[in-house]
Amino acid sequence: MAERAPHHAEYDDIAAEYAASKQLPFRIVVEAPTLFDLAGDVRGLAILDLPSGEGTYSRAFARRGAGSVLGIDLSSAMVEQARAIERQERLGLSYQVGDAADLGTIGAFDLVVACYLFNYARTADELLAFARSVRANLKPGGRLIGMNDNPRNAMERYGSFATYGFSRDTELPRREGSRIRYTFPKPDGTSFGFDNFWLAPETYARVFAEAGLKDFRFVDCQAKLPEGQDPALWQDFLHDCPITGLAASR
Ligand SMILES: C[S@@+](CC[C@H](N)C(=O)[O-])C[C@H]1O[C@@H](n2cnc3c(N)ncnc32)[C@H](O)[C@@H]1O
Repeated sequence: MAERAPHHAEYDDIAAEYAASKQLPFRIVVEAPTLFDLAGDVRGLAILDLPSGEGTYSRAFARRGAGSVLGIDLSSAMVEQARAIERQERLGLSYQVGDAADLGTIGAFDLVVACYLFNYARTADELLAFARSVRANLKPGGRLIGMNDNPRNAMERYGSFATYGFSRDTELPRREGSRIRYTFPKPDGTSFGFDNFWLAPETYARVFAEAGLKDFRFVDCQAKLPEGQDPALWQDFLHDCPITGLAASR
């Protein structure tokens, strides 16, 4: 496994490339509709977007009528991109650099959106630190929703999701902390990528309960097809899906 500091801001190096990958069809057809369905009506809600990356979902929830959105990300490059977009296209969003493992209480939010946070935890203890940060910033009755690398994925199709624009290679044998490497080829023939880490679904359930969050569950992805597109195109993706929705509440 590549060495890295506990919370190295890997995305400082790949911020621009990551923003481009947000245009991949699976993000628009599967990821976003699954997340928006989990969120339901967000009008008037105080939302914490953790991690916010370059702010794609912070902006999306602001456009859907959120009362306020605060985005936090470990990578100052990602936060700078998000702020630059906010300067051009003001939606009233705030962004701060911060570590989700060590956030403390920074507010009382109705909804925490955690898109691809928990899959950075390499151990149950790291996951617990993330889950505690979520709980510390939710109002009683507040909700957590998010997207994640899918730890329930049985790897029936190991590795390549080439049709969908990436590959996902899991260190075997898969055990707590196994590295999952995502690689995204670029039009110029080079590629970029990042690492997630596998923890068992049961570890997620146990840790979220320990952090004081109720009803933690993974939620299967759905596809919202563009007009006229053949659903068969997405069958392969949704079957043994590489990503999952998740939800819990305080
Ligand atoms: C795959 S991106 C997702 C960004 C955004 N949620 C989205 O879906 O577009 C993952 C982000 O997590 C951030 N990140 C990783 N570890 C973090 C931590 N400990 N605290 C805060 N952000 C973290 C990275 O800097 C990166 O921007």
